[in-house]
Amino acid sequence: MRFDVLSLFPELFQSYLQQSLLKRAIENQLVDVRLWNIRDWTTDKHKSVDDTPYGGGPGMLIACPPVYGCVEAVQADANPPGQLVMLTPQGRPLNQALVQELATYERLLLLCGRYEGFDERIAQGLKPLEISAGDFICNGGEVPAMLVIDTVIRLVPGVLGDETSSKYDSFSEAGLLEYPQYTRPREFRGMAVPDILLSGNHGEIAKWREQQSLERTQQRRG
Ligand SMILES: C[S@@+](CC[C@H](N)C(=O)[O-])C[C@H]1O[C@@H](n2cnc3c(N)ncnc32)[C@H](O)[C@@H]1O
Repeated sequence: MRFDVLSLFPELFQSYLQQSLLKRAIENQLVDVRLWNIRDWTTDKHKSVDDTPYGGGPGMLIACPPVYGCVEAVQADANPPGQLVMLTPQGRPLNQALVQELATYERLLLLCGRYEGFDERIAQGLKPLEISAGDFICNGGEVPAMLVIDTVIRLVPGVLGDETSSKYDSFSEAGLLEYPQYTRPREFRGMAVPDILLSGNHGEIAKWREQQSLERTQQRRG
């Protein structure tokens, strides 16, 4: 699966791309991430990408010409063109159902905003899928774009060593939160691992986990 990141700060992704799971997925050619700087599509000598809003108001808006130029050039870089995603707090909130939907695309273009956001005609003319990381305001779309990459690659076949591990993650399949998990030591500061997990009875362990998932989901999301 290929991700094209369109940003004014593509260098923010350099160290992110070096982290273990993603780095291995890239080395194994399961995932391809290309970085593009929107500023490369400016035409004036100051390389300006933003301008003041019509009607007044604080801050600067990212203007149409460099974004249209960048999106069109990146789309033309590979065939077939990808699904354009605009990261915006006004978009559809990212959740596991949306992550599953995004994982069905072969190629996603992730358009990251900055400053006060985008000129409205970018969404109007390019008709991106607008996605929000949640109901809060980030300084830019780069961290939300990393969230999209981080969540979607877990569903790309072969990226997780153990194919079952995303299946049992919270929100997967039945939409339940995952059951509590423990590792050594068996007792830590007076807190013991539940006896059932040490019983070796796989049927009973599976039942206990299912029950814990249901209770936890009810308590935390009910
Ligand atoms: C400071 S925000 C602009 C917010 C805009 N003035 C508004 O109220 O909708 C700058 C950029 O950060 C990104 N951004 C901020 N919060 C986000 C969120 N919750 N989800 C996705 N992108 C976000 C967007 O790309 C946005 O264009």
